[in-house]
Amino acid sequence: MKKTILVTGGTGYIGSHTVVELQQAGYETIIIDNLSNSNIEVLDGIEKITGIRPEFVRLDINDKEGLRDVLKSRTGIGGIIHFAASKAVGESVHKPLLYYRNNIVTLLNLLDLMPEAGIEAFVFSSSCTVYGQPDSLPVTEDAPVLPALSPYGNTKQIAEEIIRDCIHAGLPFKSIILRYFNPIGAHPSAETGELPNGIPQNLVPFVTQTAMGIRPELSVFGNDYNTVDGSCIRDYINVTDLAKAHVTAVNRMLENKSREKLEIFNLGTGRGVSVLELINAFETGTGVKVPYKIVSRREGDIEKVWANPERANKVLGWTAKETLEDTLASAWKWQKRLRERGIQ
Ligand SMILES: NC(=O)c1ccc[n+]([C@@H]2O[C@H](COP(=O)([O-])OP(=O)(O)OC[C@H]3O[C@@H](n4cnc5c(N)ncnc54)[C@H](O)[C@@H]3O)[C@@H](O)[C@H]2O)c1
Repeated sequence: MKKTILVTGGTGYIGSHTVVELQQAGYETIIIDNLSNSNIEVLDGIEKITGIRPEFVRLDINDKEGLRDVLKSRTGIGGIIHFAASKAVGESVHKPLLYYRNNIVTLLNLLDLMPEAGIEAFVFSSSCTVYGQPDSLPVTEDAPVLPALSPYGNTKQIAEEIIRDCIHAGLPFKSIILRYFNPIGAHPSAETGELPNGIPQNLVPFVTQTAMGIRPELSVFGNDYNTVDGSCIRDYINVTDLAKAHVTAVNRMLENKSREKLEIFNLGTGRGVSVLELINAFETGTGVKVPYKIVSRREGDIEKVWANPERANKVLGWTAKETLEDTLASAWKWQKRLRERGIQ
């Protein structure tokens, strides 16, 4: 029987898709989430897809004693996937302490309690923001980590260093750090997807909300970058593909497939897509127009970044499979489902 995986932030966007994939791979899951940026109804969506309702504990991971109680009362937890964090880059600039507390103290609590709970595997959600604007593209994991442009980005860099120091000190667990590029899309069933709070921070929810008429117009920040069409370039990765990488990472650690105690992988497609190309692909795929206007550059945006995913492909044994077109179609199907449910 497979071990149980504790998923922090498991009712969030990437966490919920990962719980689906873990369950479909035969793992039992326990979600810990304080619902600060997600909704309890996400559990219904997961249950509809997998037929299994995951165990859910509502808890703020800043509450170390509460976390200890949860870990003490469960046996058979083999690994933790740690998604729970605050993630709004702009907000982090104005509320740095909130971000350092929520993204660092939570990590310290988990790492501190893992040994006494006998948990041997830890997956951490990092981000391509650690590379800033890399000198050469596609970017590999060996590219230098550049000074962060926001407190949010800094929490990811600091978290990576904390994990590295713990492994170096010989703490009794392994870790895989996953650096995500730009996760988009929804589960193909449209039972789970991204549910942004307020005005979306990310491009695709903005595109689908504009296409739905919820927002009058999409702003494209800058068309004078040194790119094919002047708009910024990113590596958009399907959220279900991304979720599957977490299952592969957990398997790798629990089945001792590597001698390394710490590994870092880029999770991207290896393909850079400009903002205007993405809008065009959405319009072509769905037949729905997305009104947009070009506005000035946004502070803190880098020009272009996309992954070299070779290490994840060859060493981890994971490859992004979904096309951009199918992924955008899944995002649109999800947006329409939200409308049917009267949510957006
Ligand atoms: N979505 C992206 O574009 C992206 C890109 C790179 C990295 N990441 C990282 O991936 C992880 C997941 O991102 P997401 O997009 O699913 O975010 P999300 O906000 O949808 O999910 C995070 C979940 O964590 C919960 N949470 C936050 N603080 C908590 C706390 N103290 N205790 C318990 N629960 C808490 C929230 O309620 C939410 O359900 C985050 O660490 C994020 O920084 C996301």
